[in-house]
Amino acid sequence: MLLINSIYMMNIATMEAKNEGKSIGFVPTMGYLHKGHISLIEKARSENDLVVVSIFVNPTQFGPKEDYEQYPRNLNRDMGMAKSVGADIIFCPEVSDMYPQNFKTTIHIKGISEKLCGSSRPKHFDGVATVVNKFFNIVKPTRAYFGRKDAQQVAIIEQMVKDLHMDVDIIPCPIIRDEDGLALSSRNVLLNKDERIAALVLNRSLNHAKALMKEKEINIVKIKKEILEMIAQEPLAIVDYVEILDSKSLNEIKELRGSILIALAVKIGETRLIDNIVLEE
Ligand code: PAF
Repeated sequence: MLLINSIYMMNIATMEAKNEGKSIGFVPTMGYLHKGHISLIEKARSENDLVVVSIFVNPTQFGPKEDYEQYPRNLNRDMGMAKSVGADIIFCPEVSDMYPQNFKTTIHIKGISEKLCGSSRPKHFDGVATVVNKFFNIVKPTRAYFGRKDAQQVAIIEQMVKDLHMDVDIIPCPIIRDEDGLALSSRNVLLNKDERIAALVLNRSLNHAKALMKEKEINIVKIKKEILEMIAQEPLAIVDYVEILDSKSLNEIKELRGSILIALAVKIGETRLIDNIVLEE
């Protein structure tokens, strides 16, 4: 496995792979890998000739009061994990190379970037779309792998790829959970013991919503109310949002029809966690 820090060297590796007719599977990450990332790398490995994993804590997707500095980092650990599942290249560029002083471009995907996480993190998805666009231009992947835990991120990237005619297949992959049901996230290491237990309320309330869907008289208002009540019983949890949307467009729905996304963002202590479930009517 190769560690590449420079954009120029990554361009060369990409060019060589393309010249040899190789497919490139790309897994963008901010590091501190967990089993969720590993499942993405494994899938990329099974479907491509070359597997590139980027590790870059992207400053432009963090708000001024967010946890950019605290975001967990451990390159050696990440490299060992990525290597063990067959990654070929770890691409780990410098912030100053990705965002030189005269950097002026931002990608904004209207509407979809402003709801859900976008309302409490106004510039977050501009940062995500811009950095992913840059990575796609540098790595030129055949396929790029994203976890469905970030359902809004997946929808935004898919929209960007469609709008800008980008030549890459976006492969959304299932949420990976710990045995107790907590969706895996690099941020989970920031939770103390009590917070880790409190964080289970996210999955618990989604499972409750799933069970409610079987009731005859169920509706959106009742599901939201019961989720909010369940989270309110957890003293360490503060709800950012509970939304029930069309799972494809992320538009609001009035009735429980078709494929429904229930998405949550909840602060547990200082750590903001997200989770979601897709339910068919
Ligand atoms: O999902 C993430 O870890 C990040 O948003 C991504 C896609 C690597 C962009 O920085």
